[in-house]
Amino acid sequence: MAAPKADAGEVSRNDFPAGFVFGVATSAYQVEGATNEDGKGDSIWDVFSRTKGNIKDGSNGDIAVDQYHRYKEDVELIAKLGFGAYRFSISWSRIFPDGFGNKVNEKGIVYYNHLIDYLLKKGIQPYVTLYHWDLPYTLHEFVGGWLSEKVVEYFALYAEVCFARFGDRVKHWMTINEPLQTAINGYSIGIFAPGRHDNPYKEPYLAAHYQILAHAAAVDVYRKKFKATQGGEIGLVVDCEWAEAFSDKEQDKIAVERRLDFQLGWFLDPIFYGDYPAVMRERLGDHLPQFTQREKKLLRNSVDFVGLNHYTSRLIAHATCATEGPFYEVQELERIVNWQGGDLIGERAASDWLYIVPWGLRKVLNYIAQKYKNPPIYVTENGMDDEEKETAIINEFLSDEKRVEYFKGYLGAVAQAIRDGVDIRGYFAWSFLDNFEWAQGYTKRFGLVYVDYKDGLKRYPKSSALWFSHFLKGKSVHE
Ligand code: NOJ
Repeated sequence: MAAPKADAGEVSRNDFPAGFVFGVATSAYQVEGATNEDGKGDSIWDVFSRTKGNIKDGSNGDIAVDQYHRYKEDVELIAKLGFGAYRFSISWSRIFPDGFGNKVNEKGIVYYNHLIDYLLKKGIQPYVTLYHWDLPYTLHEFVGGWLSEKVVEYFALYAEVCFARFGDRVKHWMTINEPLQTAINGYSIGIFAPGRHDNPYKEPYLAAHYQILAHAAAVDVYRKKFKATQGGEIGLVVDCEWAEAFSDKEQDKIAVERRLDFQLGWFLDPIFYGDYPAVMRERLGDHLPQFTQREKKLLRNSVDFVGLNHYTSRLIAHATCATEGPFYEVQELERIVNWQGGDLIGERAASDWLYIVPWGLRKVLNYIAQKYKNPPIYVTENGMDDEEKETAIINEFLSDEKRVEYFKGYLGAVAQAIRDGVDIRGYFAWSFLDNFEWAQGYTKRFGLVYVDYKDGLKRYPKSSALWFSHFLKGKSVHE
């Protein structure tokens, strides 16, 4: 049986409701640079990426693409391309340099005030993530980072300051970005900050637990103190690959369900239903922390919307031995196949995990709608990368036809899901511009806009940016 193909056909702006939001996304550490300027404290990513061997090309985010100094130029470009929203994150250690919440760094506030004001001036809505992986280093070093309950309080304090200082203008908040990746890559495999891997059967579950509670605490603050006067909405950003059963065998279908529970249910079950999925509780036993009754109550329905980051899909088969390290061993057991009937599940982008499978997005969206009472959803990230090549000339990157096809396919899948009845409110392309791709450094380019790292960080829109711009103007876009 061959894997289902992408939904064919053209996609147009008219396939989406009038108020549907189209935006581009980035995160603070990946684009801002200025890591030691204006009183900012170190984050775990500052320390992690300065440590030799952690980043593929030995780089770090000290300068990144310098958005801290070029935000005006960037906002103007977003506006010129016709996007109505910009999803960015606030760097916690710019607001509280040591994370403890004693003294606000006013210069950090000034920077985000300028950014937000300029976005609004150009007609772009700010969609703001409070935490995109850059925990203040001191909270890691002296408090235990996401392994400590104390961080929950510090996060709530930080969130409160952000709501108080920016909430008059920011109406869309996201608490935490991809807690799954922090749990697995940061606290099990160790390829992301803070690079922990010594206790992979316990730490990822603790790190996830306290991120979930931090999310709930921030939402509680927002709802109690700000929502009535500011009238905004708040959600969590989860990531989920679609899992397609390798065959019709019952065991493969069960492996698929289990995988989805271990990716999405891990976070959305507590948030909608107050507890972890049954399969996680059964398999993990004592390794999985428990929520108190009070916490369960706080968690239930603690989002106004779900933010979904989605890039790729997998073919999943039941396996009899774990092949992918401790996390998968505990999960017991699955095998990522990706080949079926001689066909690959989809073409590959540059990253080895990124297969292009537009129909998978339609399925994840429908899955969320069915399992979690059709909540409002924003696709908060979707995109693909190209490999950086030392010898390449800029034009090779600028004609990114493959990325144009990617967006056509995935936007088509979003339009289909809307027709299926899923309540999708917006879509954000990842990323606005090439940037620091975490452990991959600058070796992967996800941008709609090319950044010339060798020549003054100049920005050049790629074909995909121009395609998007055309699409947003409501023109019907043909193959
Ligand atoms: C999701 C993360 O949120 C983002 O920071 C990252 O760059 C993309 N995935 C691509 O890997």
